[in-house]
Amino acid sequence: LTVDWDTGHYDTGGYEHYLLKEISEQPDTIARTLRGRLDDRFHVAHLGGLNMDARETRSFRRVKIIGCGSAYYSGQIGAQLIEELARIPADAEPASEFRYRSPVVEADTLYVAISQSGETYDTLAAVQELKRKGGRVLGIVNTVGSAIARECDGGVYLHAGPEVSVASTKAFTSTAAAFALLALHLGRVRDLSPADGRRICEGLRALPEQIKEILTQEEHIRALAHRYATSAGMMFIGRVRGYPVAREGAQKLKEVSYVHAEAYPASELKHGPLALIGPEMPTVAIVPDDEMLDKNLTTLGEIRARSGRILMVGHRETDQADDCIVVPKNQNELDPILLSIPLQLFAYHAAVALGRDVDRPRNLAKSVTVE
Ligand code: G6P
Repeated sequence: LTVDWDTGHYDTGGYEHYLLKEISEQPDTIARTLRGRLDDRFHVAHLGGLNMDARETRSFRRVKIIGCGSAYYSGQIGAQLIEELARIPADAEPASEFRYRSPVVEADTLYVAISQSGETYDTLAAVQELKRKGGRVLGIVNTVGSAIARECDGGVYLHAGPEVSVASTKAFTSTAAAFALLALHLGRVRDLSPADGRRICEGLRALPEQIKEILTQEEHIRALAHRYATSAGMMFIGRVRGYPVAREGAQKLKEVSYVHAEAYPASELKHGPLALIGPEMPTVAIVPDDEMLDKNLTTLGEIRARSGRILMVGHRETDQADDCIVVPKNQNELDPILLSIPLQLFAYHAAVALGRDVDRPRNLAKSVTVE
């Protein structure tokens, strides 16, 4: 069940679609999420809305993240950021699954609910169940004063502005940036060094300019999208930090172009989906320049050996791929934010090429406020 979303009172600001407008706004929306929250003296993040003192912040031994759709995928990026920077075990789960499986709610777990709209019923119901059992819940939410924001004990607003197109883009990257702030905050009251804190602050500050650079490649990405849009289906793969990026990339393509897309951890390819690989099933491979690079290049070789076409999204060109999109390098932990953006443009242009209703894909709603 879904509810209709009226886009009537917003304007596309000269863009052909809201989706392209919102993708293009990201240098600014990320800057708004970060504004006033980075501290150069102690290399920490200031998140006034958390309503937790340092002692309480130190007391959590686990972080559990819940959300639906793209919010859930951004939560996967968030879980990795928290584990890497704060060394607290963290994982993400669809809120819809979480609420129905009678979750064990622990006092030393920090729960984080993610929602662009703040109104998604499954996420709200999960928060209510957590609260009823005494769980401590933070919200990472875009819409100020929304139901989920009101229900949580504290949280982080994205300040990304209204997101109109059904497929989430700027809220996705702003949520990932908000998680980087939360991870920095949790990390710096624990063992994250000032030097690493500084490294992350500098990386976050570099994001808006780097996103601008990616957006200048739109024409190249458009040409690729037109070429790949007629595929029967596409495989999206990534390892560790690249995996949530692959999942969100596949989600965007499915949502707006209706091209079948599957996301897999690159390391799992040989345990099943390799059987699908052939000339008619191209692969989008997320290949950041990190400690997984060699393993990822080996995987590209395995796909090639099965005559699979490869579109690589990473930090340097490789002749192991048929086509490459190269994005600017940031800190390893923050790279997923940048790697996601070409996939948004790719999905958008594939949808335009196929004549889809880009901003209002069939069967979907911006905000699912019913069960
Ligand atoms: C719907 C939308 C998705 C969105 C999800 C969660 O399914 O179509 O684009 O990611 O809801 O929405 P929320 O507002 O909670 O982030």
